[in-house]
Formats: sequence, C-alpha cells, structure tokens
Amino acid sequence: MNKILCIGLGKLGLIFSFILASKNNFIYGYDVDPKIKANITTNKKNHEPKLNQLIKKFSNKFKFEKNFKLSVAETNCSFLVVPTPSKKNNEFDNKFIFNALDNIGPYLKNKKKYIINVTSTVNPGSCLKFINYIEKNYGVTHGKEFIITYNPHLIALGSIYNDVINSDVVLIGSNDNFGFKYLKKIYLPIYRNKISKLKFLNLEEAEISKIAINTYVTMKISFTNTISQISDKNSKLNTSKILNAIGHDTRIGKKYLSLGALYSGPCFPRDNLNFSRYLKSKKLDFSLPKAIDDVNDKQLDRYINLFSKFNKLKNPTIGICGLSYKKNTNLSTGSPGILLYKYFNTKYKTIAYDEYKPDIKIKKFEKNINAFAKQSDVIFVCYPNNIFKKLENIKYNKKTLIIDLWNFIEIKNKKIILKSVGIS
Ligand SMILES: NC(=O)c1ccc[n+]([C@@H]2O[C@H](COP(=O)([O-])OP(=O)(O)OC[C@H]3O[C@@H](n4cnc5c(N)ncnc54)[C@H](O)[C@@H]3O)[C@@H](O)[C@H]2O)c1
Repeated sequence: MNKILCIGLGKLGLIFSFILASKNNFIYGYDVDPKIKANITTNKKNHEPKLNQLIKKFSNKFKFEKNFKLSVAETNCSFLVVPTPSKKNNEFDNKFIFNALDNIGPYLKNKKKYIINVTSTVNPGSCLKFINYIEKNYGVTHGKEFIITYNPHLIALGSIYNDVINSDVVLIGSNDNFGFKYLKKIYLPIYRNKISKLKFLNLEEAEISKIAINTYVTMKISFTNTISQISDKNSKLNTSKILNAIGHDTRIGKKYLSLGALYSGPCFPRDNLNFSRYLKSKKLDFSLPKAIDDVNDKQLDRYINLFSKFNKLKNPTIGICGLSYKKNTNLSTGSPGILLYKYFNTKYKTIAYDEYKPDIKIKKFEKNINAFAKQSDVIFVCYPNNIFKKLENIKYNKKTLIIDLWNFIEIKNKKIILKSVGIS
C-alpha cells in the first residue's frame, strides 16, 4: 500500500486525505491546528458532504503524526495543502509552504526521489523557488533525493468530493518524469484509468493553468452579468432566454451561463486577480482579468439599484436569505449575501437566514426561515439552495418584495412581489 504524508488538514486537505485513503493509500496526517484532530476524534459533524462518512469508513487508513522524522521515513510522498493567503498586491503568500518544507527538508538526505506534491494554489514560478530553497537549505538535489510536483485541485467547498471524483481535468506539473509516473499511479484508481483526464505539464505551465482556468470561468460569469444587466434598463427583455440561446452554441456552452449573482468564495476572485498580477509582472496585457473583476465589483450596485427601484417602504426590514458563497458551506468570503448584509445593516433593520450558522458574527441571525420571512419586508435570495424554496409557500402577512439574484424562486402568491435579477 502506498504511504502518503498530508500536511494541512483544513477545508480541502482533510477530505482530500480521506479520498486518498479510500483509494488504498495509507495517510499520515499533520496539521498545526490541534482542533482538527480533536474534531475528528469526537466525530464532529462537518458541513462538507461525504466527509463524515469517509472518516468513519477509512479511519484505519489514516494516522495523525507530528513526528516528521518518522512520517517522512515511512512515506514516499507528501501532499502540501496549507493556506496561501492573498497579499494586498494579490500575490499568494508562500510562507506556510516554506514552513512545511522546513518540516520535511531535514529528513530528505536518505530518500530517493521523494515526491513533494504542492496542492495549495501558488503563484506561477513558485515551485522553482521551492526547489532552490530545499537544495540550498538541506543539501539535497532535485531529481535525486526529492522531486517537487504541482497538483492543484479545481474544486469548490460544499462539493469537494464530487468535484474531485468528477473532475474533467487533473493538473499534474513536474519537471521530472518520475513525478508524472508517481502521480499517475495515485490518480488512475480515482479516475478509473481515464488517463486523458490527467494533464501532464511542466511546473510553471501547471501553475499558470490553475489560475487561468478560474479566470476563464469568472470571465463567463462576468459575461453572463454583462448580459443580465440589459434587463435592468429594458423591461421587455428576459436575459435568461438570451443566455440560454447563446449557450446552445457549443463553442460557448451552457455551463456558468445562466443567471446568477457575482462570483465570490475562496478561489475565483483571488485566482483571477493573481493571474492579472502575474501578467502585469511580466509586462503583458492584463486588461482581460481586470475587466472581469471590474464587472464583478459592479454587481452589488445593481442589486441595490433594483432595491431602490422596487421598494416602496420608507423603513423596510431587509432579509438576507443566504450568507455563504454557496450551498453546503458556511464560508461567506465576499459572498453577495454578506456584501448586502453589510450594506443594508448600516441603513435599515437587517436580518439574515441561512442553512448553517455563518463563519462570521451576524447581529441578527434567524435560524427559522418562516420567522425570518415574516419579519422581512424585502428579501434578497443570495444563492440557490432548495431550502430557500420554502419562501414560495410561506403565509406572508404583508406585501413582501423578493429580489432573487439567481432566478431560482418561483412565487405565485399575491402577497409577493418577485423581482428576478436579469428578468424584467
Ligand atoms: N478551499 C477551497 O475551495 C480550495 C480550492 C482549491 C484550492 N484551494 C487551495 O488549497 C490550499 C488550502 O486551502 P484550504 O481552503 O484547505 O485552507 P484552510 O485554511 O482551510 O486549511 C489549511 C490548513 O493548513 C494548516 N496549516 C497551516 N500551516 C501549516 C503547517 N506548516 N503545517 C501543517 N498544517 C498547516 C492550517 O491549520 C489549516 O488547517 C490553499 O492554497 C487554497 O488556495 C482551496
């Protein structure tokens, strides 16, 4: 059985370790945060679908280990899934990766082609720096004692298991053939031998591909919002129909081409901005990622303008339905719900509802959708979640305006005025 050390057991690293464990790998896991071990041992319920089941089923293939001398000696590969937070200039900060390299580095001397697989998203050009760092500080040679590979994942919180298992593309970056061979052995069982999914690239090509893929997806979202805004001015147009027609053209495709809100969360915005920074640093044209970001930034104003146009009350109570950036997670980074909450909370009484308690403190959070809806005069539906469909059947005791950012709610109730963004 293959033995792998996973460093960083956060939102991505923990479930990913157990996906590896489910495919006949034995995992040594390490995280600086002791709460993670405590949560697993007490079987704390996770929002992330499948995670609890995987932990239960494969706990015999997983061991917490903080002794790196032992875990590096026992394994032939490490996956690094530590944070790479964005700095003010949109560059990713590699300091946690260097910390992890310092954990492994001292024990590489007697290894042969030990794979250090960077899964965290890094700036293009980073992996070459990791190679130089290890060679310089630990007196070992790339290609001999160790090999750096780059293997980021194209996943979103709340659907990590499905996103990994059904991934169209697995990026594998290496400047040494042994790196490809090793990761092929790990991934073929996950992808039922579909080798065409695995894309073998050199390190910098793989680094660029990760952020370029997310830039492309954000481009589609900003394109969708560019079309969607037309109906704000022309009340005869249903932009959902326009997008549907456009998406039928297979050169364009339907995915990420239906009405929705701005993009947010831990990857899309920052990967796009990082790509922009990368192009700029190479003195290349960076106008495209910049325009994508500008369009995204303007979406909040659209929602506020629609509110001003349709709200007739002087002092309405605002209801934010959905604070997280998507379903099955409570992460609210840059989400439309949190942006609207922050905007309206300074002006009107504002309450919020979501399936899970949000990751940040909200003054007035209502756990019951019925009570939430009845208190609100204006409700913003901020991401699609079937639970929010309950809004369709609540017995409202007053006229309520619902502004649906996702064209997701259908209401035939006379007490409701429904405004779907992008539809007249
Ligand atoms: N979460 C996502 O949706 C997603 C998607 C694609 C890529 N990524 C990338 O994956 C990486 C990890 O993201 P995440 O969301 O899992 O972050 P996270 O903050 O949830 O988890 C990172 C974990 O690493 C631990 N850690 C930090 N330094 C460490 C060290 N030196 N040794 C051991 N553990 C350490 C932290 O305690 C934390 O538990 C980032 O680069 C991110 O950009 C994340």
